[in-house]
Amino acid sequence: MALSPLMAVMQSAARKAARHLLRDFGEVENLQISRKGPADFVSNADKKAEEIIFENLRRDRPGFGFILEEGGIAKGTDKQNTFIVDPLDGTTNFLHGIPHFAISIALEREGELIAGLVYNPAVDEMFYAEKGKGAYLDAQRAMGAIRLRGAHRENFNEGLFATGMPFLGKPGHAQFLKGLHKVMAKTAGVRRYGSAALDLAWTAAGRYDGYWERDLKPWDVAAGIVIAREAGLKVWELDNDAADINGHNPMSGNIITANEHLITELKGCIEGG
Ligand code: IPD
Ligand code: CA
Ligand code: CA
Repeated sequence: MALSPLMAVMQSAARKAARHLLRDFGEVENLQISRKGPADFVSNADKKAEEIIFENLRRDRPGFGFILEEGGIAKGTDKQNTFIVDPLDGTTNFLHGIPHFAISIALEREGELIAGLVYNPAVDEMFYAEKGKGAYLDAQRAMGAIRLRGAHRENFNEGLFATGMPFLGKPGHAQFLKGLHKVMAKTAGVRRYGSAALDLAWTAAGRYDGYWERDLKPWDVAAGIVIAREAGLKVWELDNDAADINGHNPMSGNIITANEHLITELKGCIEGG
């Protein structure tokens, strides 16, 4: 299926930025690194990638606004459309030479997430989705995009789950360990690979049966939310007990996703006292 004009523009910006990221990844030891906050490293590669994404999207969609992890908010004349960009998700992996990181770009229109891509240039995997059009993985080695539908597993005990654990400077270590303990005891395993965007995309691809993490930012999850939803998964907010669970706002930063058979049990383990 041909890409929509919007998705073609988003992917083109991501692929251009990825070329620079990959070059810097090859020279990771020579990167000049500055420290922005606790466990929050920002590299030159990261900033350069964001500039490339910004310049390309601004040229191809003039007027659209931006929420950029590094550059902050850039308002546009078009108040309906906002790109949400994380130029490098999985910074710690990148800095350690681990080829598990991604560019994440989403488009929010009138407060609704309508398009997203998560691209890992190290293995050339482009996960993408638009609202109502399905989720796809375009991996060059597979020669053509394949449709993603999440995992269909119904037995919680057989599930493999991903998470992100709080690290230096982040709150909630004890709360996290409590939930992890319960999930560990009841399932086939838990992984922590270090990129929230890829965790969501990999769950959409059925590699994981579910994923949860607290204290994330909109640019960590915006694109992955569209991809997971379009793969047929539930995406809910953690720690919100409102009855209408589908009305929850996953952009709060506390997120959980899985298929309809597993999500309630996973949520119960993580939130249970
Ligand atoms: C981080 C990654 C990581 C998650 C952190 C995020 P960054 O983003 O998504 O998996 O656990 O909370 O901040 O800093 O690599 O862009
Ligand atoms: Ca991030
Ligand atoms: Ca980042």
